[in-house]
Amino acid sequence: MSLPDEPITGTARPVLRVDGLNAGVAGGGRALREVSFEIPRGETVALVGESGSGKTLTCRAVLGLLPPAVAIESGTVTLGSGESAVDLTGARPATWRRLRGTRLAAVFQDPGSYLNPSLTIGYQVAEQLRVRGNTGRRAARDRSLELLREVGIHDAERVERLYPFQLSGGMLQRVLIAIAISLGPELLIADEVTTALDTVVQAEILDLLERLQRSQRLSLLLVTHDLAVVARMSHRVLVMYAGELVESGPAEEVLRHPRHPYTQALLRVASLGDWSRRTLETIDGQPPAAAAEITGCRFAARCAHSAPGCTDGVIPLRAAGPAHFARCIRDRVAA
Ligand SMILES: Nc1ncnc2c1ncn2[C@@H]1O[C@H](COP(=O)(O)OP(=O)(O)O)[C@@H](O)[C@H]1O
Ligand SMILES: [Mg+2]
Repeated sequence: MSLPDEPITGTARPVLRVDGLNAGVAGGGRALREVSFEIPRGETVALVGESGSGKTLTCRAVLGLLPPAVAIESGTVTLGSGESAVDLTGARPATWRRLRGTRLAAVFQDPGSYLNPSLTIGYQVAEQLRVRGNTGRRAARDRSLELLREVGIHDAERVERLYPFQLSGGMLQRVLIAIAISLGPELLIADEVTTALDTVVQAEILDLLERLQRSQRLSLLLVTHDLAVVARMSHRVLVMYAGELVESGPAEEVLRHPRHPYTQALLRVASLGDWSRRTLETIDGQPPAAAAEITGCRFAARCAHSAPGCTDGVIPLRAAGPAHFARCIRDRVAA
């Protein structure tokens, strides 16, 4: 059941709307709790949070690709709005086949594992166009060369003849981005697409995503550990902690005036360097397992400001400013 004050509401024509999503784990417990957000058309929404907080599951729930042990219990995922709206909750396999790659597409962390090792790059880019886009063989090849150039592969004629093992991680990620945008999706989900890459290549791939987002008016759900990337690339930010969104709002506003103590801690740690592989060392304790049942605030055990009311019951998201929400009962907590 969604709360009336869920984050990022009221967007005129969102490309994606997730409403009150709960996902259960086999054997008990929940990995996602009351997750609600919208992605406005042509905007980048960043999703941040420590490892294990539920970012990838959120992406996979949107894509209909949850692992077998995780299932949606309640809530809705809607792609598009108005006449083009499709309810993805409980969509049939045929609907998913029709939508994935065409209206929504995704790129993940480990590009090597998403390409067929025994087929050339050119074949795999063109295949999507031929099979899904009903493009003729010749036109598909021309378009695939164009797409490879569009993602910054200048010697496309050479690269199209190569096999995946002959390309670096950064080049593979470019190829996967080319495939992802090939049929003009409304929504692109990019889940830690630069995590496995060298710093220089990371910056190039992020530049590429930013350029594509702007030139194609893509809506981008960008999962990242890098708050500098959030500041530079995203319009809005969602902060996730132990399976729950704890803060959301315009990126600039959230980064400047974080309201939730967890967001404040993230920002403090981010200023000390990469926190992707670590838990927040500046605050005591570990995040609870996503599935752990906790009454009240899931961050309370680690929060320097925790008070008796924090563990009494459900903590709703509260307005912290225009389109800015935080799941904290305190009116103002100093950063
Ligand atoms: N395949 C799975 N089976 C069971 N539980 C899972 C599975 N994948 C993820 N989870 C649970 O969901 C939590 C969130 O995972 P994930 O979304 O991958 O985190 P993140 O992407 O934020 O690092 C994990 O900590 C784990 O408890
Ligand atoms: Mg992940």
